[in-house]
Amino acid sequence: MKINTHYLDLEESYLFSEIAHRVARYTEEHPEADVIRMGIGDVTLPLCEAAVQALHSAADDQSKKESFHGYGPEQGYDFLRDAVCRYYAKMGVTVDVDDIFIGDGAKSDVGNILDLFDKDNTVLIPDPVYPVYRDTNVMAGRRIVYADANRENGFLPMPDPTVKADIIYLCSPNNPTGAVYSRPQLAEWVKYANDQDAVLLFDAAYEAFVRDPELPRSIYEIEGARTCAIEFCSLSKTAGFTGMRCGYTVVPSELTRGGASLRALWLRRQTTKFNGASYPIQKAAAAVFTPEGMAGCRANLEVYRENARMIAGTLDELGIWYVGGINSPYIWMQCPNGMTSWEFFDFLLEKAHIVGTPGSGFGKNGEGFFRLTAFGSPEGTKEAMRRLKELLG
Ligand code: MLT
Repeated sequence: MKINTHYLDLEESYLFSEIAHRVARYTEEHPEADVIRMGIGDVTLPLCEAAVQALHSAADDQSKKESFHGYGPEQGYDFLRDAVCRYYAKMGVTVDVDDIFIGDGAKSDVGNILDLFDKDNTVLIPDPVYPVYRDTNVMAGRRIVYADANRENGFLPMPDPTVKADIIYLCSPNNPTGAVYSRPQLAEWVKYANDQDAVLLFDAAYEAFVRDPELPRSIYEIEGARTCAIEFCSLSKTAGFTGMRCGYTVVPSELTRGGASLRALWLRRQTTKFNGASYPIQKAAAAVFTPEGMAGCRANLEVYRENARMIAGTLDELGIWYVGGINSPYIWMQCPNGMTSWEFFDFLLEKAHIVGTPGSGFGKNGEGFFRLTAFGSPEGTKEAMRRLKELLG
């Protein structure tokens, strides 16, 4: 018996597990510390009323023989796929209902999609990046090349036509930096992907935070994307579904590689390995897309946006360089006084009892940077910013 030795090439633990362990150790040793968590991008506000009502009513459905649901369609119920279609239509994007696959969140699908691709492909990943893109490819033993994101390019790297890639990852609004690509910038990436016959994996999990109408929220706003891009989206951040688990992946019918339809391959993969997101969760997800649901979600997003404004304002006052926070829940700041990311993590935890995420956990270019999230409570964020000013002012 041989294990997959590529797992041994990974860091010992996943970034957010490592942070959770360190914070748990710290709070055990300092039970009096009032720790404010601005590390993992986890939402804190409850679900919108429409989703809660739908959950209750789905539970009632499951209690009666006439309305009970067993296995659902692996691709998701039509009521939810239609709602996702209409959501795209409101953005001015046409997506065919058959291109939509409901899943249990973007993270799973981003990892699982790799089942479709050969091990020999070269993967292009921005650095810094959401660790799932990197780790899932390390697990498979694929060759990874990095596109450097840094202060000079505003943490928005552009394609280099001399670099050959088969699988390309982009996330916009970006995790971890909060930077957002413009339409012309994404058009360059789409052209690059089509020219190379590559597949572009576009993570749109934070699209709901885009306020500026000039900025794209879906890769399919870009001409040519349907022949090269797969889009992943999730209700985790849009609708507070981190504890509910529901997302959707769009694989356009026009996307073919090696003479095969990737949509057909993904359907084959899902029907074999996935039995669908649960009925009550899909009912709640469909309620999110109703006018009442959307209004409830918008109200929650506004609270997080206000937190982001508060964080950005504090960094402005302190004269600390940062990006993000306007069309994103993440603020990516430079560590003060030349500290490394983990030094600043320890410093902030010990001196101000604030938890953030060290930039180096997202890649080598993240060294010297730090991510704060706006997903906390307004009171917690305000108090954290008071402590930050006291510490660094
Ligand atoms: C993060 O903090 O980067 C996110 O919570 C990760 C995720 O969405 O899985």
